[in-house]
Amino acid sequence: MSKLTVSVPTGRLKEESLSLLARLRTWPAEYVLPSRRLVVETSDLPWRIMFSHPKDSSIYVEFGAADLGIVGKDILLERENEVYELMDLGIGRCTMVIAGPEGLSRKALFEREHLRIATKYPSITQRYLSENGVTGDLVYLYGSIELAPAIGLADAIVDIVSTGKTLRENHLRIIEEIGFISARLVANRISIKTRNTEIAEFCNQLNEVIEHA
Ligand code: PRP
Repeated sequence: MSKLTVSVPTGRLKEESLSLLARLRTWPAEYVLPSRRLVVETSDLPWRIMFSHPKDSSIYVEFGAADLGIVGKDILLERENEVYELMDLGIGRCTMVIAGPEGLSRKALFEREHLRIATKYPSITQRYLSENGVTGDLVYLYGSIELAPAIGLADAIVDIVSTGKTLRENHLRIIEEIGFISARLVANRISIKTRNTEIAEFCNQLNEVIEHA
């Protein structure tokens, strides 16, 4: 049988994900992954590892191109891919927030007649507004979201905050926390049935590492 394929996100989660994998019992001692190769399958490694864009990792798992994937909870909430969420890996911790200019209250923001919110998370933002009985226009941006209120494109943003440095340096502050985010291990719906023993073993090894962190 072929090796399990594990999708690892590139970007800010890559380093933490790889250091987690490198601590697993079956990771070959002193093995270093080639730095730019996107699919790594060698006799040294017990799994095939693929690197995907953080926003795409759950797609590869949903469509079965990967059996397992490491995916940020923000992406899972936003994309709602049909995958099984197996465990919280405790890495990539941050908070989803609504933030706005210093001095702007939640009440004043939500009472705006033509509320406009910039985000790279339109589904999460829409759900959040609906849950709070607020209507507003969304401006979908790819990144550097903090620019939007600073330049007058939006009243507020919905985004993830890690250290809070980007907010502070752009004179924004958290208006409300929407939820806590961390990286999750997800599995393909078919793999979880057909490769259950291998996936359970992978999870056991991860648990050992996480418990001793
Ligand atoms: C994320 C997020 C914030 C920033 C927060 O962006 O969208 O902009 O990090 O981090 P901080 O609280 O530690 O300052 P990312 O760096 O992923 O880039 P992007 O804005 O291009 O999406």
